[in-house]
Amino acid sequence: MDILSSDEIKNIRTSVDIVELISKYIPLTQRGKNYFGICPFHDDHTPSMSVSKEKQIYTCFTCGATGNVFKFIQDYENVSFREALKIVADYAGIDINIGLIKEKKAPNQELYDIYDISTKFYQNNINTIEGKIAKQYLYDRQITEEIIKEFQIGLALKNDDLLVSLLSKKNYSKESIMKSGLVVKRKSGYADIFYKRIMFPLYDLRGRVVGYSGRIYNGEDDSKYVNTMETEIFKKGELLYNYHRAKDEARIKNQIIIVEGFMDVIRLYSVGIRNVVATMGTAVTKVQANLIKRMAKNVILCFDGDDAGAKATFSCSNELANIGVKAKVVRLEENLDPDEYIKKYGVEKFQYKIDNPINIMDFKLTYLKKGKDFNNNIEKADYINNVILELNKIDDDILRELTINKISEESGLSIDLLKSKLNISEQKQEINEIVEQKNKKLTKYEKAQMYLIFYMLKSPSVIKTYEKKVTYIPIEKYRKLAYEISYFYKKNNKNKMEEADFITYLSQENEKLIDVVGDINSLNLKEEFTQEEIEDYVNVINEFNIKNECKTLRKKIDEQQDITSKAKMLQRIIDLKKEK
Ligand code: CTP
Ligand code: MN
Repeated sequence: MDILSSDEIKNIRTSVDIVELISKYIPLTQRGKNYFGICPFHDDHTPSMSVSKEKQIYTCFTCGATGNVFKFIQDYENVSFREALKIVADYAGIDINIGLIKEKKAPNQELYDIYDISTKFYQNNINTIEGKIAKQYLYDRQITEEIIKEFQIGLALKNDDLLVSLLSKKNYSKESIMKSGLVVKRKSGYADIFYKRIMFPLYDLRGRVVGYSGRIYNGEDDSKYVNTMETEIFKKGELLYNYHRAKDEARIKNQIIIVEGFMDVIRLYSVGIRNVVATMGTAVTKVQANLIKRMAKNVILCFDGDDAGAKATFSCSNELANIGVKAKVVRLEENLDPDEYIKKYGVEKFQYKIDNPINIMDFKLTYLKKGKDFNNNIEKADYINNVILELNKIDDDILRELTINKISEESGLSIDLLKSKLNISEQKQEINEIVEQKNKKLTKYEKAQMYLIFYMLKSPSVIKTYEKKVTYIPIEKYRKLAYEISYFYKKNNKNKMEEADFITYLSQENEKLIDVVGDINSLNLKEEFTQEEIEDYVNVINEFNIKNECKTLRKKIDEQQDITSKAKMLQRIIDLKKEK
């Protein structure tokens, strides 16, 4: 059977209404012809994403995200084009075979393959005689055979040249092997980074293995965990452990639990709590915060019970607050981590804590109060000032009011005084202002190129004008985009320009150009245009080209010795100027 045709893909696209689909993820409200919502692709506070029922595309006027149903799913769920196609098809009740969808080879395919091979290799090792002690270690930690399989847990053996020889035997170049971050070059030759460690695969957002955390298991080394170095496919700050398994469950429960260690995830998973991801012991980045935000509305931070865990809870909640997420907090007693807590107290007790989390301000009050002596006025003032700082950060009037009442009682200071210390800045910018600012930053020439393309995306007549009258678009990304539009239009041989289908085309052929479409669409130009306006843009572009050519010619004339050549070039300048 053949791969899916563009008509079949179009059929899937048009079987689903973009407004309905996006509404499943973010609330939309109708304003005029379009629907608006808070953009999930940047830290949006006012609804700046517009969804067009008519065109079946969305555009964020602030960050420039744009696309059709497939692109939305791709970016929201962090999946590939073909997976997005499958999700949309399922939603529409259309049965497709994902194997039939053409997918380009990933740019780092070799690296993914190396990780695939090494995962199987490590998994195999743990089932050998040498793996017995490692297995026993896992069993002792109540990790069952089933969980070992599910999480693809493996073992790096004693010798430190096994993986590098296996990969060499499979004809991977030393360069590729080194790029994987699994091997180092020593004086004595190439050596595996991991040996004598239980290997926990780390996954990217799509569930592909992209790294490892290797744990000691018979106590001979001083570092408990060794991690893969950062590679082109492994950026620790851009992923969350277990994201691909947790996201659907999190959406169903409308709740996501954040823990520190992947061992905590594995424990929770094995007792049936599956809406969990781990930050893996580092400070939460903006990228990770945004991933969390997209998974579920209710976010529960359940870090280790020790001081480090409290500190991490504090900073993670602030990173989340910056993008409008109000996290709740669970603190575990006796410095326990979730894994230890469940083993000691059982899952019911743990679940009870998850069901009864504390709000973020109550957590912060306890955290800031810790170790402070309230009989000492300086320490007391320090505490109050810190609370005020935190109150200024949150975007929740009610919580602010409640907290003010509480610290007034605690400190004996009046509510009015405390309130006078708040400075809540309301800096919500209107979309119109944002768009205006964007437009102002553009030069006349850039504007002409972008505006022309904006209307090419909407109308065949503009494509025809471009083909007839524009010889060269100066800025490369716009030149490429205009070329693709014209190519797409010709190939489809229809009398309409369907922007949503053009985006499908770009998703398959040149994904980066979708961002350029987004930059252009987010200028929010009016839909109607006159031929005169279009001619204006064309003239500005051509004028720019002429100016440029004259400039180059003048420079050449200066360098040129030969009189006749000089004269020829001068004549060309005169001719060019007439064209103008
Ligand atoms: N971590 C790391 N390097 C270390 C220690 C920790 O990368 N030297 C990361 C790991 O991803 C780990 C997370 O930080 O999952 C949390 O660390 P920790 O609480 O020490 O690990 P536990 O989950 O408690 O692991 P275990 O129960 O096996 O001791
Ligand atoms: Mn632990």
